[in-house]
Amino acid sequence: MPEILCKTLQHGSLEYWDSVALRYKILRIPLNLDFGYSQLIAENHDLHLAAFQDDKIVACLILTPLENGKMKMRQVAVDDHLQGQGIGKALVVYSEEIARHKGADEMVLNARETAVPFYLSLRYEIYGEPFTEVGIPHRSMRKKL
Ligand SMILES: CC(C)(COP(=O)(O)OP(=O)(O)OC[C@H]1O[C@@H](n2cnc3c(N)ncnc32)[C@H](O)[C@@H]1OP(=O)(O)O)[C@@H](O)C(=O)NCCC(=O)NCCS
Repeated sequence: MPEILCKTLQHGSLEYWDSVALRYKILRIPLNLDFGYSQLIAENHDLHLAAFQDDKIVACLILTPLENGKMKMRQVAVDDHLQGQGIGKALVVYSEEIARHKGADEMVLNARETAVPFYLSLRYEIYGEPFTEVGIPHRSMRKKL
């Protein structure tokens, strides 16, 4: 498999818009949802990370700093034809390094039920009760960094 390069994207850059397109394709279209413009503007305060293969974006995620040393991971997406090859894992591990570097000591996230085994394999733990978000079942998960 060609080398995977993980890096941080600047909000509003061309690569950021590539990540929006990837999130739209992988996370929104299947649920018949879209992004609001104000929602994307508000992401200005988040950290945008992505994985590239041969200069093409293949995965992305968002980190939102919370209070009390927590970082929230959101919108994790790997391009559909490349899932199951370790790219998601590489990007999450990279995001944990970035979060630690920013002073966070815990990562939290709302996992789609279908993605829970992925996060368990990365030593995230489930806490709290199941809930519904964007119309599908989710679990709260966390990991000490
Ligand atoms: C979920 C997702 C981010 C995982 O990324 P990926 O690149 O496909 O996963 P990886 O290949 O890095 O898998 C890492 C580990 O998780 C395991 N894993 C991944 N998906 C799994 C699943 N659905 N069931 C069981 N195990 C799974 C892999 O077997 C692997 O285990 P290993 O390290 O022991 O070999 C990706 O499949 C995706 O974008 N899915 C659609 C969107 C989505 O659900 N996003 C998450 C929203 S919370």
